[in-house]
Amino acid sequence: MRELVYYVAVSLDGFIAGPAGEFDAFPIEGDHMDAINERYADTIPTDLALALGIERTTPMFDAVLMGWNTYAVGLPMGVSSPYRHLRQIVFSRSKRAEADDVQTTDEDPVALVRRLKREPGDAIWLCGGGALASSLLGEIDRLVLKRSPIVFGAGIPLFAPRAYAPERFDEVATTAFGSGVVLSEYVRAS
Ligand SMILES: NC(=O)c1ccc[n+]([C@@H]2O[C@H](COP(=O)([O-])OP(=O)(O)OC[C@H]3O[C@@H](n4cnc5c(N)ncnc54)[C@H](OP(=O)(O)O)[C@@H]3O)[C@@H](O)[C@H]2O)c1
Repeated sequence: MRELVYYVAVSLDGFIAGPAGEFDAFPIEGDHMDAINERYADTIPTDLALALGIERTTPMFDAVLMGWNTYAVGLPMGVSSPYRHLRQIVFSRSKRAEADDVQTTDEDPVALVRRLKREPGDAIWLCGGGALASSLLGEIDRLVLKRSPIVFGAGIPLFAPRAYAPERFDEVATTAFGSGVVLSEYVRAS
């Protein structure tokens, strides 16, 4: 069955962006970049990958899920279909993406993900943000954290607050880069 993979950059104190969506503190230079870009080439916006000459040699994902706030980050720059090499699904109860190749839905994310998992295909990338990830926590099969050696102090959490109910994941791989970025992969404990 297809896995739902939450692959995301996070600060040491568990934030995926600053309070106003800032992400410039995450390091975009260093030895982690080539390794991560090669392995997770699917997660680079289509136009950026083309500009950088990055090829998807071993596709991992064929679909991406975004909360509206995550999708909306590109809109002021005119980017309305950021990952057009993937099937793009955006969750919103009130808005609609204009791009033809972006599906907007107000369906319950859990029901939609369960249906997607039953369809044939590659893994599904949960891009974020924290609000959508919180709704989908119970469906996440694999968690891939790109942890940067930075403390934000405040911001948008990896998972928006929800009821206290610990869910265990087992660490399956960790790579520490000279840049200080640590890539850790976890699978849901069985
Ligand atoms: N560090 C990283 O790798 C990374 C990755 C992704 C995102 N981010 C950052 O995360 C921030 C956004 O995160 P966020 O937590 O604020 O928001 P988000 O999860 O991206 O989006 C929240 C919105 O999605 C819709 N939504 C969420 N859950 C839903 C549900 N169960 N059913 C229907 N619609 C639902 C709602 O939109 P409506 O209000 O329109 O109904 C909600 O307001 C951005 O700043 C982005 O840059 C960082």
